[in-house]
Amino acid sequence: MKRLIVTVTLTGFAMVVAAGAWATPKDDIAQYQGYYKKRFPGVALQSYSDGVNVLPQYAARRANWELLMEFPPYEAEMDKARAEWAKPFANGKTFSDCFKNNPPATKYPYVDAKGDMRSVVGDVNRCLKANGEKPIKNLKTGKIARLVAAFKEQFNGQKMAVNVNSPAALKWYDRGKKIYWTRRGQLNFSCASCHVQNAGNQIRGDVLGAGLGQGTGFPVYRTKWMLKGKPWGTLHRRYAGCNKNVRAKPFKPQSKEYLALEFYQAVMNTGISLKVPSQRQ
Ligand code: HEC
Repeated sequence: MKRLIVTVTLTGFAMVVAAGAWATPKDDIAQYQGYYKKRFPGVALQSYSDGVNVLPQYAARRANWELLMEFPPYEAEMDKARAEWAKPFANGKTFSDCFKNNPPATKYPYVDAKGDMRSVVGDVNRCLKANGEKPIKNLKTGKIARLVAAFKEQFNGQKMAVNVNSPAALKWYDRGKKIYWTRRGQLNFSCASCHVQNAGNQIRGDVLGAGLGQGTGFPVYRTKWMLKGKPWGTLHRRYAGCNKNVRAKPFKPQSKEYLALEFYQAVMNTGISLKVPSQRQ
């Protein structure tokens, strides 16, 4: 594996945002979003769905992304995705028949009546099973990502509003929050070390994007992954990549750990519109 040369200076920023077990999700959202507002005063809340592209520190490279967005490389793939989404199962039912009973994409992930965390990926596979079809095994790239994109794009422009009001949801929330702020791996970085304290700083020539908005553009179509023949990536594929970057053992896609993390991030994104899929470098 390529050696990760840490060129960021850890700012020693006290973990104010993480502090306080008493903080409610509502307080956390205000604090988290407020932090970025101060750090990047020129960046509007809504634009955080465009990832690192919106940061002033990335301005020099933004033109590349804008050029790509004129004819997004994922367009043909989205036609395929929509066809896969609409294709009836052997029994004549479709994904829409399952999903019309589920919340809108802006309320994903959500905690169900049993206390389980339900993601779009998980619900796609539930739908397949319930209709006598084989569930999809690869939860990182390919068809699963296309199906998730085909579902979520129907809610583009609508604001994230996940529900964190039940005791079960709060438990998941606390778990995700803890994972987000806990240092791990040989490099001993948390998600927040890079995406909160060092957002906008450089690491190995990359600009670190803000944690705010992460997930609202997923699944993404990524140039780096395209070169490896697997351009699509689910959010959990990306999480695994970030874990590996700090030489931490990644969790499995759809593991409780990543579901909790996805939930915590979705709560932090409250009020930011979906923009699916997205193009990334
Ligand atoms: C060593 C620094 C580092 C750490 C630690 C790290 N990441 Fe990242 N992450 C990056 C870099 C670099 C990128 C690519 C630039 C960007 O989009 O921020 C990235 C990108 C991402 C993206 C893609 C954003 C998008 O819109 O395309 C997500 C999501 C993400 N990280 C989540 C996480 C989570 C969750 C954790 C903790 C488990 C984490 N990262 C830990 C460096 C890090």
